[in-house]
Amino acid sequence: MSDKFILDPCCSVRAMWMDKKHPNVLYTDIRDEDSGFLGYGRKEELKPDRIMDFRKMDLKDSCMKLVVFEPPHLSKLGKTSYFRKKFGALEPETWQNDLKRGFNECWRVLEDYGVLIFKWSDSEIPFKKVLALIEHKPLFANTSNNKATSVTKWFCFMNLANSTREEIKKEI
Ligand SMILES: C[S@@+](CC[C@H](N)C(=O)[O-])C[C@H]1O[C@@H](n2cnc3c(N)ncnc32)[C@H](O)[C@@H]1O
Repeated sequence: MSDKFILDPCCSVRAMWMDKKHPNVLYTDIRDEDSGFLGYGRKEELKPDRIMDFRKMDLKDSCMKLVVFEPPHLSKLGKTSYFRKKFGALEPETWQNDLKRGFNECWRVLEDYGVLIFKWSDSEIPFKKVLALIEHKPLFANTSNNKATSVTKWFCFMNLANSTREEIKKEI
C-alpha cells in the first residue's frame, strides 16, 4: 500500500490542515502558484504535491482511505479578488457538472468503507442545491443554528455503497 492514502484534491494553501505536510496526505490542486503570495500579511504558498484536476484524477480506483473535498464555493468574484486568488472560483456556466464529476472521482478513488469529507459554505449556493448533485447521502454534518451569517458545514460520507454491492455479488 502506498503511504499516501489520504487525498486533498483541491488543497489550495492547506489552510485547514494542522500538519500542512502530513506524510500520509497527497495534496493536489489544479494550480501551482510558484512564487507564493501574500495573504493577510503573511506569505502563503499554493504548492500542491501534484497538479491534478479533480474532474479527472490520475489515480487508481479505491486507493484512498480518506478524501477531504473542499472545492471553491463562490462564482461571483472579481477577476483580481483576493478570495479568487487564494481559493479559486466556480465556473458560472459549468460548476454543477464540474462538482458532479469531482464527487464521482472522489468516490472512485475511495476504498470500500473509506470516508469522504465534503466542506461547503452556503454564502452563495445553498447546501440543498449542492447536495442534490451527489448520488450518495451524508451520514452526518456539523449542526449550526446561526443563520445570521453564512454557514460552513463538514459533511461526512462513507463508501458503503460499493461494499454492499460487492457483498451482494459474493452472496449470489
Ligand atoms: C476553497 S479552496 C480549498 C481550500 C483548502 N481546503 C484549504 O484548506 O486551504 C478550493 C481550491 O480548489 C482548486 N480547484 C478549483 N478547480 C479545481 C479542479 N478542477 N481540480 C483541482 N482543484 C481545483 C482551486 O485552485 C482552489 O485552490
